Amino acid sequence: MYDLVIKNGIICTASDLYRADIAIGNGLIECIASNIDINLAVEVIDAEGGLITPGGIDAHVHVDEPLKLLGNLADTMESATRSAIAGGTTTVIAFATQDVSKTGPKALSHSVESVVDEYAQQTLYCDYALHLILFQLEKSSIEGRDLLNAQLQNMYEDFGVTSVKVFMTYPGLQMSDYDILSTMHSTRTNGFTTMIHAENGDIVRWMTEDLESKGLLHAYYHGISRPPAIEGEATNRAIVLSSTLNTPILFVHVSSPDAIEAINKAQAKGLRVFAETCPQYALLSDQETMCHHSVNLLDCDMGQTENNGSKLVDQNESDHFVGAKYICSPPIRPKECQKHIWNGINSGTFTIVGSDHCSYYYNEKMSAASKHRAFHDGKDGRFRYIPNGMPGVCTRMPLLFTYGYLDNKIKDMMKFVEVNCTNPAKLYGCYPKKGSILPGVSDADLVIWYPQDPAQDAHPSKPTTIKNSILEHGCDYTPFEGFKVSNWPRYTIVKGRVVYKEGTVLKYNATGRYVPRGKSTMCCSK
Ligand code: URP
Ligand code: ZN
Ligand code: ZN
Ligand code: ZN
Repeated sequence: MYDLVIKNGIICTASDLYRADIAIGNGLIECIASNIDINLAVEVIDAEGGLITPGGIDAHVHVDEPLKLLGNLADTMESATRSAIAGGTTTVIAFATQDVSKTGPKALSHSVESVVDEYAQQTLYCDYALHLILFQLEKSSIEGRDLLNAQLQNMYEDFGVTSVKVFMTYPGLQMSDYDILSTMHSTRTNGFTTMIHAENGDIVRWMTEDLESKGLLHAYYHGISRPPAIEGEATNRAIVLSSTLNTPILFVHVSSPDAIEAINKAQAKGLRVFAETCPQYALLSDQETMCHHSVNLLDCDMGQTENNGSKLVDQNESDHFVGAKYICSPPIRPKECQKHIWNGINSGTFTIVGSDHCSYYYNEKMSAASKHRAFHDGKDGRFRYIPNGMPGVCTRMPLLFTYGYLDNKIKDMMKFVEVNCTNPAKLYGCYPKKGSILPGVSDADLVIWYPQDPAQDAHPSKPTTIKNSILEHGCDYTPFEGFKVSNWPRYTIVKGRVVYKEGTVLKYNATGRYVPRGKSTMCCSK
C-alpha cells in the first residue's frame, strides 16, 4: 500500500513536463507511472488540471538568530516554516551566525549547535538547513589557515553545514579583502560554497555620512547611499579575489545591472561564479521608499534645510519613514533595473531565486530610526538605523508563478522549477533528496498548482490579492500587499503529508527537521 497517490497531474521538473501519477510511501516518492491503481492508496488526490512541482527551496531566509545582529526579527523558525509552506516552499536554508565567544577547532560547530538546539524546541512545518555567517576570523593571518580549515571541516562533519556567507558591508560584519581571501582559501580546501554579500561598505559609510551632513535622512536616501555601482564594484572585486584562488563563489541577493554585468563577464570567461536574485528586485522599485511627498521628496527634507528662502515645516511627520518597510540591502532599485533581473533569470546568469526573508516589525523599523534622533526637536530619525530586510518566504513562489511564468517573464515551467527548487538543492548539497521528484531518492515534497482554475468557487480560499493576513508569518506587513496573483498553491506536501490545503495550514502534519547537507554538486572545488 502507498500512503498517498496523486492522480492525473502534470509533473513539472527542471527538465521535463509530463502527465503521470505519483505514489508516495514513507515520506518518499516511491513510484511514478502512467496509471497507478487507487486501490493501492490510503489517500488519493485528484490533480486533474494541476501542475505538480517539487516543493520550493528557499535558500536565503533569516529567522530569529540567537545573535540578532541586525535587530529583533519577527519570525521564529516555527513561523518562518509555516509561512514557507503556505506559499509552496518545503525547505528553507537559514543562517547560524558565528558566535565569537566560541573559539578553537569546534568554534563554528558550537555556533551551529546552539541554533539547531533552539529550533528543535519549535514545531516546524517543513525541513530546514543552515548556512554559517562568518564575520571575524579567529586568527587573521596565514598562520590561522589550519585553524579555519579545521573549523569548517568540523562544522561539516558535525552538522552538514557546507556554505559560508561573508559580507563586504555592514558595520560589525564587513570583512577585509585579506580575510575574505583567507576564507575563500579554506572554503575551496573544504569544498564549501562561499556566499558573498557584495556592496562596498566604505563607500556606503562615506555616502551615508555625506547625506546625513546635508540633512537627507529619509528612508529613500538609504538607496541613494548604496548606488548600483558600489554593488558592481564589490562584485568585481570579489570575482578578482575568487579567481585569484580559483574558488567558486555565489553572489546573494543581486540587484543591480552593474553587478549582473560583472557576473555575466565572469561566467563568459568560464569562472565558477553563481548568483541569486530575489523577487523584490524584479517587482518593486525605489519609489516605494519615498514618503508621502513622492514627487517632491526634498520638500520634506528632514534636516529642514532652506528651500526657496523659507524653512519648510512638514505637515505629516509620521509618514517620514513609511518607506522603511522597503529598506533592504542592496536596496530596491529604479524600475528600469527590473528587466535586467528577469533577463538574468531566463538567461541563466541567476542560478537561483531566494527570498532573503528578513522580517522586522514595521514598528521595529520605525523606532530603530527614531531611537537615534539626531537633528532637531527629537522629531527625526536617520535611514542608517532602520534594520535592513523585508519578509518574503511565503510570496517568493506565488509571485514568480504569476509575474514570472504566467506573465511570460520566466520562459517556461522548467525554468520556474530550476531556479526555485532544483538549482538551490544542487547548489547547496541536498539534491536529489530535495528539489526533484525522483522515485526512490526524493523526499515527497510537492506543490500542486491549478493555473487554469476557472472559478473561485472551485476553491473558495484561493487568494487573488496578496494580503498580510494570508502569509502566516510573524511580521505585521508585506511589501507585496495588494499584488494581484492569478494562482496560489492549493496543496503543499512535505515528506508525503499535506501541510497546506486550500488556504489552511494543517499543523497536525508538521514534521519538519534539521537537514544536514552534503557538498555542492554545482560549485564545489574540482
Ligand atoms: O537587507 C537585507 N538583505 N537584510 C538581510 C541581511 C542580508 O544582508 O542578507
Ligand atoms: Zn546580505
Ligand atoms: Zn516626509
Ligand atoms: Zn540575507
